Order: sequence, then structure tokens, then C-alpha cells
Amino acid sequence: MKQRIFITRKLDDGVLAPLREKFDVRMWESESESVPRDILLQEVAEVDALWTVLADNVDRELFEMAPKLKVVSNLAVGHNNIDLEVAKERGIIVTNTPGVLTETTADLTFGLLLATARRLMEAENDVRTGNWTSWSPMGYTGMDVGGATLGIVGMGRIGEAVARRAKGFDMRILYHNRSRKMDAEVEHGFEYVELDALLGEADFVVILAPYTPETVGMIGARELGLMKKTAVLINVARGAIVDEVALYDALKNGDIWAAGLDVFTTEPVPQDNPLLILPNVTVLPHIGSASITTRLGMMKLNGQAIMDVLEGREPENRVV
Ligand code: DGY
Repeated sequence: MKQRIFITRKLDDGVLAPLREKFDVRMWESESESVPRDILLQEVAEVDALWTVLADNVDRELFEMAPKLKVVSNLAVGHNNIDLEVAKERGIIVTNTPGVLTETTADLTFGLLLATARRLMEAENDVRTGNWTSWSPMGYTGMDVGGATLGIVGMGRIGEAVARRAKGFDMRILYHNRSRKMDAEVEHGFEYVELDALLGEADFVVILAPYTPETVGMIGARELGLMKKTAVLINVARGAIVDEVALYDALKNGDIWAAGLDVFTTEPVPQDNPLLILPNVTVLPHIGSASITTRLGMMKLNGQAIMDVLEGREPENRVV
């Protein structure tokens, strides 16, 4: 009997073709809606491989219902939706998609930074809705990006790619990370600083740290209080790294100037999240890696990893 793969979202047929030749591939046929939990739990009972997206909660309950499962491949570089401890306990391989999304996510990060600094969404909305009534001397005025100080919290591959872009804008680049990047400091002049110093000095604070127990709530009321009143916070990592209630207060009270958010604690963000009614917040639906080439590239990595594990080879991009 062929080994079985279950895919939790409708994915590109071209990417799936090599898998279909060798395996019994089953797929939840919606691109935009998550597979219901009860169906997912039924499916995993018979699978050898599970191909997931960030919205799928791969927890102990799921692992315990999947006696044949050998590999979970996640269509993301982040893997906070998967209980890695249980995967390890049960000898199940988990893979992700690093590298291929670095430049695309850095593009989006820089785009969100520019859009937030220069109030692009608000201005665009006014043009479309007929609220652009006259040219106004101080209308839509924002913050300068060129020559400003950028503070990157979490200097991994994406952080470095954002910093390289910022160099083209003559920005001073501060970073905070678990480990220092001496090569990048020498080559590009990036400056390592403690988190509090970064928050106090940066005009733009970009959160790119991984989601871990240590980073949850890392930016709370105290940290936001250290930022300049003119500063902009950009979060493209995971929503829960920033305390959303504290962020709302800081934005409403003018303790910081604006925020650009591609990620939220709960996704899709509930319509009653108070951040959505603040004019100084620019919001996006978690699209950091969303270019056609990159998403297809991510899928190829997942497909290859699943193929490798099911055929007895060591996969690339193994998380555990
Ligand atoms: C990731 O890869 O972790 C992004 O957040 C989703 O593309």
C-alpha cells in the first residue's frame, strides 16, 4: 500500500505532481479556510506525512491520533503552531522553509515600514473614498525614513536582509540579538546594543525575533515606554511578541507615533481588536512571504522534505 500524505490547504498542482506519482496524496480542497479540527484528526489517523500551514494546531492530541506519522512539514519558517517537544518524544521529524523567504519577507518589512512612516494606507483610502479635498500644507505628513535610526530586534537572516535595504536609505542600524553578528558589524557597520538602548535610540523598531517562550510579551508597557514619542514599531514576526493591550495604550496616548503590524496575537485578527480603529496603525494580513515565487519555493521545500522522509533519506530544513 502507498504511504499517505495529508495536506491541510489546497496547494499548487505542479508542486504536488511528483508526490502524487509515488504516494496517496489527500488534500483539504480550500485555499483560504482551515481544515476543521475533527476532519484533521480523522485524516491523521492514517497518514505517514502531514503538510501543514501556520493556522493548524499540531499538538499532543493530534500526534496521539497519528500512529503512523513520520514527518510534519510546515509551510513557514516559524513553527510555533507545532508542539516540538511531543514531536521529539515520538520521533517525528518536523521541517520548515527557511532561506527561500528571506528577501521576500525583508521586502514586505521595508514596505510596511515605509507605508507606516508615510501614512500611505490612510492617504490611499482618502483618495479612493473622495476624502482628498485639497492639497494641505501639513496633510498626511509622516516621519522621514532616510537617514533615520533603525533598530532590529532579532537579527537572523531576515533581519540582515532588512538592514541591507536600510543601508540604501542611509539609515544607522542598531540591532539586538541572542548572539552578535561580528561579520555583519564589520562588513556593514551594524551596531549591537542591549534591547533597552535600542528601544530608546531607534526611530523605527522592527520586531523579527522568533516566537519562543522567552519572546512572548517581550515588548510590553515598559519597553514601549522606553521608545521615542516619534518612534514607529513594526512587527512582522509573531503577534504575541508584542503585548497588544500595551501597544494600544501607547499608540492612543501618543507614547509612540505609529505601528505597522503584519501579525497579530489572534489570526485572522478579530474585527473587534481595538488596534484596528486607531488611525496610526497600518495593518496587513500576515503576508511577509507572500510572493508567487517564494510561496511556490516554500512548497517545493516542503514537498521535497516529505519525499525524503518517506523514502528514507534525511530531509533538509529539519527543525527536530
Ligand atoms: C513564516 O514563514 O513563519 C511566516 O510568518 C509565514 O510565511
